Amino acid sequence: MFTRDEAVIGEGTVGLVRIDEIIVGRFACRDYSDAPVSRQTVEQILRVARFAPSGANIQPWRAYVLAGTDKDRVSAALLEAHQTCRDEHISEYKYYANELPDPYLTRRQEFGRLFYGSLGIAQSDVEARSRQTAKNYAFFGAPVGLIVTIDRRLEVGSWLDLGMFVQNVMLAAAGHGLQSCPQETFSRYHRILRPLLSIPAEHIVVCGISIGRAKCEAKERLMPRAEVDEFATFAGFED
Ligand SMILES: Cc1cc2nc3c(=O)[nH]c(=O)nc-3n(C[C@H](O)[C@H](O)[C@H](O)COP(=O)(O)O)c2cc1C
Repeated sequence: MFTRDEAVIGEGTVGLVRIDEIIVGRFACRDYSDAPVSRQTVEQILRVARFAPSGANIQPWRAYVLAGTDKDRVSAALLEAHQTCRDEHISEYKYYANELPDPYLTRRQEFGRLFYGSLGIAQSDVEARSRQTAKNYAFFGAPVGLIVTIDRRLEVGSWLDLGMFVQNVMLAAAGHGLQSCPQETFSRYHRILRPLLSIPAEHIVVCGISIGRAKCEAKERLMPRAEVDEFATFAGFED
């Protein structure tokens, strides 16, 4: 674990620049205060997020923005499905490889240890884990929830664009002092979401995003990252 400052300040860096602070300060927030977030704020976040780059500028994103009773209605339907017929629902895309090679498998195992450890849940406690998963569908108590979709006729390149848009949404939210959580788990319940939100048949539900004010600001980052030299190689520099 490391603090935000340690995460960013490197050799020759005297302080955090604002964008670094925002990127490093973002974390997957799973506990929100009930402070409301106005439609105006969400519109501003999306106005900024739409400047994500996309191949040939096709802007392949679509977001369904939920608050209040509309959000509650969606949450209630998904929670019921999670509790009664989870196995009848399956995502239209595959997020994880069946057999994760290393180093990804090791990182995933570390995630499990850190995540459930931080919640005081034993990894063997299937019931408690399911209760934690259920909190996803209530957007972890956040006042705003987004459901993000993409046209199924687009190729994998457009999913890159979509990821950049999702990240922009979360960073723009952070600029407003808001935290967020990207949530692929919503994709499982596309058959329920489709009629509720009038999602057209040609769209795939990719993920949700919870947005709100964190109940308590994290003092320490829970999820570590590999060092730069573990994922980058450099050539041609003279310094
Ligand atoms: C596309 C995507 C989908 C995710 N889906 C979920 C999810 O369904 N539920 C959840 O609690 N966290 C989800 N996460 C959050 C990750 O677990 C989290 O980003 C990761 O553990 C790193 O932690 P950090 O974001 O706090 O740095 C998702 C993250 C991404 C990028």
